[in-house]
Amino acid sequence: MLRVFDLTVVVDGRVILDDINLEINPGETHVLFGPNGSGKSTLLGTLVGFDRYKVVKGQIYFKGEDITHLPVYERARRGLGLLFQRPPTIRGLSMRDMIRICSRGRDDIEGLAARLNLERFLDREVNHGFSGGELKRSELLQLLAQDPDLILLDEPESGVDIENIALIGRTINRLLQRDLADTENHRPLKQKREERHKAGLVITHTGHILNYVNADVGHVLFEGRLSCRGNPWELFTCIQKLGYGECIRCVV
Ligand SMILES: Nc1ncnc2c1ncn2[C@@H]1O[C@H](COP(=O)(O)OP(=O)(O)OP(=O)(O)O)[C@@H](O)[C@H]1O
Ligand SMILES: [Mg+2]
Repeated sequence: MLRVFDLTVVVDGRVILDDINLEINPGETHVLFGPNGSGKSTLLGTLVGFDRYKVVKGQIYFKGEDITHLPVYERARRGLGLLFQRPPTIRGLSMRDMIRICSRGRDDIEGLAARLNLERFLDREVNHGFSGGELKRSELLQLLAQDPDLILLDEPESGVDIENIALIGRTINRLLQRDLADTENHRPLKQKREERHKAGLVITHTGHILNYVNADVGHVLFEGRLSCRGNPWELFTCIQKLGYGECIRCVV
């Protein structure tokens, strides 16, 4: 689904991502941990093609095609979707029209909005005046409508209350074609990977989303480098116990 080779990214003359290598197969969900400012949002923004991120080295392959220099809308058309950490407001465009555009006229807009308790928001401008939790649900509604194959989620649970985290978790599982995690044992449920083709990359600080999305692989991004990879629960536990600096010492 996604192959990233030696990706180095510069923002305003500063190297933010350094030699990133990452592979995500169809059916897999990966989690990205890392301290503030380590480059997590930069990585997701580079994958979707925001032009403030300059790729100075390396390639991004999506479904076997080199998309390193494709514009954002071409990547979206091919099946890449992003939930923003800080979603932009779009004045003058209603949620209803946005959902219609995302779904290319395929879906029942009211029904989709109802899944995220956003029926009353359809005639408001996209994200305008939305609360923190409403913003994340709005972003998920747009993703449900778009139904991308690779779903990039930048802190989907940040600022979301407990009940809505459950709603967001269930929606993400639906997008990723996954079952709920076995939260008692902190392990993914056994499942038929061959039945899934969607893939995901999720950024989380709190780890709440791990209770809902039974991720396969975790990565730690530290100072612009992917420092280690492993079981997401084990990595999260290690980070909680030891902090990022200590946690990555096992590999450096
Ligand atoms: N225009 C810029 N000039 C210099 N540095 C920048 C610029 N834009 C972003 N950066 C820096 O890039 C680094 C990575 O930012 P990014 O948003 O990717 O971090 P993050 O890992 O997502 O952090 P957080 O957990 O706080 O969301 C930060 O130190 C940020 O200040
Ligand atoms: Mg970020």
